[in-house]
Amino acid sequence: MANLPGVAKGIAQMLAHEKVAVRQAALRAIAAQPGKVNAQTWLASLEAQLAKGASPLLLDALAHVKEKRFDASLNAIAADTTKPSSLRLKALLALSSSGEDLSDAAFKLLTDLFVDPASPGLRMDAAARLANTKLTPAQWDAYLALLPNAGPLEQNELLVALAVPQNYKRISKDLGRKIAVALSKSAMLGTFRQDLVRKAFGFLPREVYEVLEPSFDAALAANDAKRERLGPLAQMAVKQGDPAAGRAVYESGKGACIACHKIGAKGNEIGPNLTKIGGIRAERELVESILFPSYNIARDYDLNSFQLTDGTSVLGLIQARSAEGVTIKEASGQSRLLTNETIASSTQLTTSLMPAGLDGMLSEKELIDLVAYLRSLK
Ligand code: HEC
Repeated sequence: MANLPGVAKGIAQMLAHEKVAVRQAALRAIAAQPGKVNAQTWLASLEAQLAKGASPLLLDALAHVKEKRFDASLNAIAADTTKPSSLRLKALLALSSSGEDLSDAAFKLLTDLFVDPASPGLRMDAAARLANTKLTPAQWDAYLALLPNAGPLEQNELLVALAVPQNYKRISKDLGRKIAVALSKSAMLGTFRQDLVRKAFGFLPREVYEVLEPSFDAALAANDAKRERLGPLAQMAVKQGDPAAGRAVYESGKGACIACHKIGAKGNEIGPNLTKIGGIRAERELVESILFPSYNIARDYDLNSFQLTDGTSVLGLIQARSAEGVTIKEASGQSRLLTNETIASSTQLTTSLMPAGLDGMLSEKELIDLVAYLRSLK
């Protein structure tokens, strides 16, 4: 819409308007555009607004403009530790290219957020950004040092990025080997999809994958052993589980459940609302949902993968379909409209959006208590 000349002129006039509300409406219109907009006529007004100070809305709009002339100011905001992380991340996401000019301060923000237990949504955004950004060798080393301890979804972002052809030329054999070493140290290894791992390393010489292979095979075997534990763990939850302690685990944010599930008024609704889950699921099914989310995918929560015409791909739950395209909800909780023109193909995955491996963040007692708590919700 904003790419049509008449509309673009209208937005330009609104941006220069004396009333704040009108200027904000223009920013909102820009921020609501799918993809990058052609903003030649607005650049001066946007620049003037940025000089006065960055609001989240202005940064959202700039993320659809992605002009080199804003990079210096945006990098400065990203580097300003007195500003909230969410604002600094928005500034980073608005940089013109895939972070060709990623400053050390901006990089530090990304790596801090990447492992920040308090902000799951920002963590995912940071993970996607790190995985898709051109990093210096020193930045790669710092990122890969954190990777094995990051959350399962955040680690998965790198595999997803490696599987994109445009990224192949960024990854040398040596770097590929370093990535393989980092992943082989990950406790989440057994949660990665085999086909994705193969694809991620498929463009490198086989010897690179061989660095990872022994650990990956061992992790897959450990999964089989874990399957045997389903029954015993369910029994323990029935006999020894402490619902009050489990509630404390849930509310502490441990295991990240609260980032995606709502119980009563607390939490997010990326996954199903669990307020009455104990009425429809018994201990064994609850344990299974946590240990192996992809065994049984709850109704209407099928995960879809979209390959876009720019070579990137995104994962999400389908929220709505319209004449314009498909609205999806990403794991970060953000909704996003993918227009028909930008979708090259799509596939329904057999994996859950709920990451496997979350039980690795809980002790056995915490897991059993958590299950007892969920079972008590009726
Ligand atoms: C990244 C988001 C995310 C996180 C984090 C997450 N879940 Fe889920 N969860 C989902 C989604 C999406 C589904 C629905 C798809 C499925 O069934 O696998 C789901 C399904 C479930 C179900 C099955 C619900 C039903 O109706 O059968 C249970 C139980 C559950 N999650 C519990 C948890 C617990 C406990 C945690 C924390 C250890 C957790 N989830 C963490 C997204 C998440």
